[in-house]
Amino acid sequence: MPSPLDVFRGDVLAGHVALVTGGGSGICRGIAAAYARLGADVCIVSRKQDVLDAAAAEIRAATGRKVIGVAADVRKPDEVARAIATTIEQLGKLDTVVNGAAGNFLAPAAGLSPNGFRTVIDIDLNGTFNVARAAFEALQKAGDSLVLNISATLHYHGTPLQIHASAAKAGVDAITKNLAVEWGTFGIRVCGIAPGPIAETEGMKRLAPGEIDKKMMAGIPARRFGTIDEIAAAAVFLRSPAAAYVTGHVLVVDGGHCVATPALGMSFG
Ligand code: NAP
Ligand code: COA
Repeated sequence: MPSPLDVFRGDVLAGHVALVTGGGSGICRGIAAAYARLGADVCIVSRKQDVLDAAAAEIRAATGRKVIGVAADVRKPDEVARAIATTIEQLGKLDTVVNGAAGNFLAPAAGLSPNGFRTVIDIDLNGTFNVARAAFEALQKAGDSLVLNISATLHYHGTPLQIHASAAKAGVDAITKNLAVEWGTFGIRVCGIAPGPIAETEGMKRLAPGEIDKKMMAGIPARRFGTIDEIAAAAVFLRSPAAAYVTGHVLVVDGGHCVATPALGMSFG
């Protein structure tokens, strides 16, 4: 089965060292595996060491690269600092950070507790800042560095049952623009990817259960959900020299979902 990653030269990311939060599962595991496949060494970070160990072992076996897993909660700056220090200690440097750790669930605003709202903001938005901030010195030292923030398209419209994640991801996109401006002079590019609905992910299981996913499919011009490798390919492009002049940009990878108007009662044929 051909993969979108087949178009990249096998050593296009050789010499890079990436830390990928949320890299034990789903989309960000796909990004970590793609980076390793194309020559990078990688540290994956999330809260569960057993999940990280299994994922790291599989990626190592498939790619032959150095892949380590360090448990850390992105809400806790001391744990984040430890993960970054371990990466540098074991992999030699850090030039790439992918902020993918996130939490989400469906909840009506009127039924969401303040702690429920705060929890998602804390993981997605504060976690993105915590990791980028803690990595700054290492990224500056490495040069030709990248912070890649995974957001979403939820906040482009008023997406029901998603006030917490929409607010968080809007903030993440703001961080992408702000840091691109502040850190460009230090040799650090800052970009984002906004995935649309991606098949076989925890996000889709939680947000589009059962019949909802069929309705959602009808609103996607590409008439299908995306694949993890399609997001990983965008992440490789943004890390590669082909994107050397791209910063402050959030690349939407959604089969046209966010630009399609859900025309009442009309199908796309
Ligand atoms: P996922 O597999 O659940 O990925 C989320 C990851 O974040 C998990 O590995 C989770 O691991 C980790 N995590 C959660 N809380 C954490 C914390 N406090 N500290 C450290 N790690 C934490 O879900 P996914 O669907 O692939 O989503 C990946 C990214 O893509 C997310 O940023 C999501 O918002 C974005 N996205 C997904 C879709 C989609 O269709 N799936 C669409 C748009 C955007 P632990 O629970 O073990 O910590
Ligand atoms: N509906 C409404 N509120 C919910 C909820 C739901 N489905 N799930 C959790 N909450 C609320 C809790 O009730 C709690 O608020 P309270 O103290 O007022 O009761 C608050 O959110 C925190 O919940 P808790 O379970 O303590 O948080 P956690 O830090 O252990 O876990 C989550 C974070 C809730 C986001 C959890 O679902 C998670 O770990 N997700 C990671 C994977 C994921 O979401 N992947 C998809 C990415 S798109």
